[in-house]
Amino acid sequence: QLADEHVSAEQLLASPLAPSSDEALPLPQVLYGSGPGARANSVGVDLACLAMRAPLDAAVATTHLSTLSMHSAADADAAMQRLHAGFDAWSARPLAERAALLRKAADLLEARLPAYCGLLVKEAHKTLGDTVAEVREAVDFCRYYADQAEARLMDQPLPGPTGESNLLRLHGRGVFVCISPWNFPLAIFAGQVVAALVAGNTVAAKPAEQTPLVAQHFVALLHEVGVPQDAVALLHGLGETVGAALVAHPLTAGVCFTGSTQVARLINRTLAAKDGPIVPLIAETGGLNAMVVDSTALPEQVVDAVVQSAFRSAGQRCSALRLLCVHEGIADGVIEMLRGAMAELRVGDPAELATDVGPLIDDEAFTAIGAQVRRLRGEAKLLGETPVRSSFPRLLAPIAFEIGRIAELKTEIFGPVLHVVRWGGDVNEVVRQINALGYGLTLGVQTRIDSRAQRIADTARIGNVYVNRNMIGAVVGVQPFGGEGLSGTGPKAGGPHYLYRFCAEQTVTVNT
Ligand code: SER
Repeated sequence: QLADEHVSAEQLLASPLAPSSDEALPLPQVLYGSGPGARANSVGVDLACLAMRAPLDAAVATTHLSTLSMHSAADADAAMQRLHAGFDAWSARPLAERAALLRKAADLLEARLPAYCGLLVKEAHKTLGDTVAEVREAVDFCRYYADQAEARLMDQPLPGPTGESNLLRLHGRGVFVCISPWNFPLAIFAGQVVAALVAGNTVAAKPAEQTPLVAQHFVALLHEVGVPQDAVALLHGLGETVGAALVAHPLTAGVCFTGSTQVARLINRTLAAKDGPIVPLIAETGGLNAMVVDSTALPEQVVDAVVQSAFRSAGQRCSALRLLCVHEGIADGVIEMLRGAMAELRVGDPAELATDVGPLIDDEAFTAIGAQVRRLRGEAKLLGETPVRSSFPRLLAPIAFEIGRIAELKTEIFGPVLHVVRWGGDVNEVVRQINALGYGLTLGVQTRIDSRAQRIADTARIGNVYVNRNMIGAVVGVQPFGGEGLSGTGPKAGGPHYLYRFCAEQTVTVNT
């Protein structure tokens, strides 16, 4: 439980502007990595303090969600031409200059954290706790990719015979199209864009149509710190129109996409069918994420991890837990404790500090997931359900069902819906069945046998494995995030290999 004050998004957005009071927020310096003093992104931010003091950026407070209009395919073409024209100058900028712009962006974002939190509550209906973590993640992405660019993208002399010098060089590919989802409308959007930029690409960025405003503010911030207008452009609109026009455009040199597996396939097909250069795709897609709990696991720890992983952010994370595989020896106890924990969750207004679970993103999601839950009520055994005592719109009660077999899970339900299956016998068989689902994003393991945890990690074809903890909230530079199989192409966001995929490589050999 965070605190008891109730501060609404309206209050946050309506507070008097206090442009010079940024320093009033005692935010910890954000650090990544595992060196001495390093800490995770959002830890330590005092939410009550944030809500009371929130200095609001004038632009954020006065922009209305309804004032944005969608772009057309012709707008997309004009942007691509402009970004193509801007590529030579941007890619010729010294790496250190591009990295410095990312660090400036990070500083400004951090100084405006409360305003971005207010905006994320308002536009994406995120809980206050989630908004702070998200802004910090975006800050981390800017700083991490700036550091990684300087550490990894510099020219590298290579050994060669006497009388010859060899140099390996990396440079931007051209105009990168970045298409991002609504569930992390700042962090994923910013991460894609700044990675592509620092690697020397110009960027056409298309945020999800549900969350255009936060993206608009971030691009404005990039321009404010000095990223040129013809290095990054924002295109609002639907995937089917603007997104499709960008992907199919002849000047597109690369695509970075986070969203559904189905749309990633569509993008892949479009790219494959194009004439001209072969265009790379970086895709981070969905998951059917499981947690394997053996008979030695600590039930309290399991239940805490399950509640965080399955229901936080209303289950609207690609990392979220969908399938709890619990050993039959402890299943009854775990389920009973889980039922109790679910009954305690507060479902409600995301702007209230006491809220644990906020609403779904929009009516379409609410209707679709509502129908899936109705179907499950008819087919599976109901284990527990959180009471909803708020009339805030689009609230879906966290709910858990028992199913008979792992293979019954076919599709990702992007909401607070948990499936539970009991297992006995060989844990390796459980992992085999999880692998057979075809997704490979996150896996939780709960056991007190170290060698078992290690063996599961060795055999799981899954990108992020979390042992004896929750399985969400990957920290930049600490748990690089991304999967394999139906969950995406890699490389992992927030990891040391990410920037390479945005680059073309060249070797220069000189006969001296
Ligand atoms: N990166 C997020 C997490 O780890 C999911 O998209 O929860």
